[in-house]
Amino acid sequence: MKGVILHGGSGTRLRPLTYSGPKQLIPIANKPVSQYALEDLVSCGVSEVAIVLGQTFPELVRSYYGDGSKFGVEITYVQQDEPKGIAHAIGLCEGFVGQDDFVVYLGDNMLQHGIGQHAARFRTERHDAMVLLKEVDDPSRYGVAQLDGNGKLVKLVEKPKEPPSRYAVIGIYFLRPSIFQSIKSLKPSWRGELEVTDAIQGMIDRGLRVGYSHVGGWWFDTGKKDDILDVNALVLDERATSDMGGEATGSKLSGRVQVAKGTKIVNSTVRGPVSIAEGCLIENSTVGPHTSIGGSSIVKDSSVEYCILLEGSEVNGVERLEDSLIGKYSKVSQNAQNRRTLKVHLGDYSEVVL
Ligand code: G1P
Repeated sequence: MKGVILHGGSGTRLRPLTYSGPKQLIPIANKPVSQYALEDLVSCGVSEVAIVLGQTFPELVRSYYGDGSKFGVEITYVQQDEPKGIAHAIGLCEGFVGQDDFVVYLGDNMLQHGIGQHAARFRTERHDAMVLLKEVDDPSRYGVAQLDGNGKLVKLVEKPKEPPSRYAVIGIYFLRPSIFQSIKSLKPSWRGELEVTDAIQGMIDRGLRVGYSHVGGWWFDTGKKDDILDVNALVLDERATSDMGGEATGSKLSGRVQVAKGTKIVNSTVRGPVSIAEGCLIENSTVGPHTSIGGSSIVKDSSVEYCILLEGSEVNGVERLEDSLIGKYSKVSQNAQNRRTLKVHLGDYSEVVL
């Protein structure tokens, strides 16, 4: 089986952060969202992956993943020059896919238990396409599946105003090359895109075998700041380990706290789960729980909880910073007279003094 990761899209709901990088490279517990997808594919035995790049800083994606050798996989890049939709992006991979079966992973989707059991099912049940379904409260935000009385998948609709069920079709699709014929006959939807739901509907209409598998555990489409913070908290809860690679002096560390080398924690309290990357300084501060701090950041005389600070950021003199996503090389500081809780979402290279 081959893998395809879609790394395009403009990330409008994550502005301003996506003005300086693609949403799929935003780190969760100090690792880009799309790296979880890549590692999930690799753990299912996929050894060849195509990454489809969009117009939002494709060069950052190429320089992060390179030829894939660091991740134990061979990566091919495919450029999508216009945002014409998921099915269009899949169509560009026809040459890469050849005659193989393949799995398409939207690079902003994260699945608690990964795709392993679903991949095994797709292999044994020999479907032409298999979608993954998750029951949600707000199905009209997603592709939605309609099942008949026997549980057979009869219809897929993209973002319906009146959803036929509560089963969202999540952004991971198991496919065979027979999808390419359906993609070729697609017309753009109301949002001007070639929809993957319509392509798979085309396979149903052609009488091909389209199956589904229910997803247990959590699933996130990390399209908004609060989703990113929530998934960061869940991943830290489940996967953070206690790992002290830096130095702590006069400080109290409790719970699972991951500290990379070259990081100094001085006169501070750190409550896990927390992930702090290399070369940071945490001084006279309280950090955590549920907080990730990127490399070379500084937190001084501040309290930070339920936040993601990207690389090189600085939080100084802030009485209480919570539920915040701070872009790379940004600075947040507060005057002593102006003490209150701050909640911010800052793009890269921003500066806020309050
Ligand atoms: C896309 C798909 C939709 C799917 C969703 C999952 O939506 O079109 O069917 O449910 O991903 O993340 P989009 O993110 O383009 O709005």
